[in-house]
Amino acid sequence: MSASPEPSPRVLVIGAGAVGQVYGRHAQLGGGAVTFFVRAKYAADLAGGVDMYPLNRSRSQRTVPVRFEGFAVVSTAAEVAARRWDLVIITVSSPALRGPWLAELVAAVGDATIVALQPGRDDRDTILAAGASADRLVSGMITLISYSAPLPDETRFPRPGMAYWFPPLTPAPFSGPDTRVAAVVALFRRGKLPAKRDRDVPRAVAFPSAVMMAYLVALENAGWSFRRLVRETIQQGAQGAREALAVIGHREGRVPLGIRLVARPRILRMGLWFARRAIPLPLETYLAYHFTKVGDQTREFVAGYIARGREAGLPVDALVRLTAALPPGPAH
Ligand SMILES: NC(=O)c1ccc[n+]([C@@H]2O[C@H](COP(=O)([O-])OP(=O)(O)OC[C@H]3O[C@@H](n4cnc5c(N)ncnc54)[C@H](OP(=O)(O)O)[C@@H]3O)[C@@H](O)[C@H]2O)c1
Repeated sequence: MSASPEPSPRVLVIGAGAVGQVYGRHAQLGGGAVTFFVRAKYAADLAGGVDMYPLNRSRSQRTVPVRFEGFAVVSTAAEVAARRWDLVIITVSSPALRGPWLAELVAAVGDATIVALQPGRDDRDTILAAGASADRLVSGMITLISYSAPLPDETRFPRPGMAYWFPPLTPAPFSGPDTRVAAVVALFRRGKLPAKRDRDVPRAVAFPSAVMMAYLVALENAGWSFRRLVRETIQQGAQGAREALAVIGHREGRVPLGIRLVARPRILRMGLWFARRAIPLPLETYLAYHFTKVGDQTREFVAGYIARGREAGLPVDALVRLTAALPPGPAH
């Protein structure tokens, strides 16, 4: 008699937005039985399946939709508690983590591995405070770009769908308890989502996030225009990035050299020049669209750097000036 095949891991993906759909699709491709937990208003539309545009394909293939279906959809903690889970992937933004729903959900998923993709160490603390134990919590960093296509002025797709791109040589890192991290990395590798183990993802994320958040505020203050960023706000963004890095370095230790370099305007200008040519999507429009959508998250991160910097007696003047020029963010 042949050995019975490995059972499919039962995967619950929390949130079916740009990131949730991609992790869900690749968990399914890796052999997972995928269920989405979504707000009730999205359940019916999602249940029939979605079109997706993986952009890591040849130019002619990129605009051909692939159908993602064959998953279940639930929208209450009671439905979650009624089933058993091996893996739970939380894909909502940092501010969306807060609220009683998280503790209800954590209580409902039994002893499943919980993967947190939110960028901050504070986010990890929020999930622990909601009842997840550290011995089953895996931290992951999102390295992909995904968005609800088409973006304004994007005419290449035949119909709406989720477009996404994995940057080369940048596998998504995961850290946490060994056997749980190994299972997560193996699932995603089987499903062709580039993934690797890392020692400490919250630390690895903290530095690039600090630089990115300061530059994002500078870009928002430049009306989401690269041209205006380079002409008007890049210096202030770079100064803010250095301040935010010092705040993170105070807690996490030495700032990696590569990250310090990006906090120099000349290096960012070169990076932008290269990125616009190498990334197969309209980068400027994507940044405007995505970071308007998660504008509350950016504001929260920068406010956190300012508060922690003040506590530690570090300079935060550039960060304060950057945020003072921002329009208010969306309420969550
Ligand atoms: N997209 C990217 O390229 C990218 C890249 C790197 C990092 N990230 C990060 O990944 C996170 C998610 O981004 P995203 O682009 O996937 O955002 P998104 O498209 O807005 O998806 C998040 C989804 O989660 C849902 N949600 C929020 N709270 C929920 C709850 N309590 N229960 C169930 N669903 C809930 C949201 O619903 P509502 O809209 O109704 O609130 C939304 O559908 C953010 O932190 C973002 O910065 C994204």
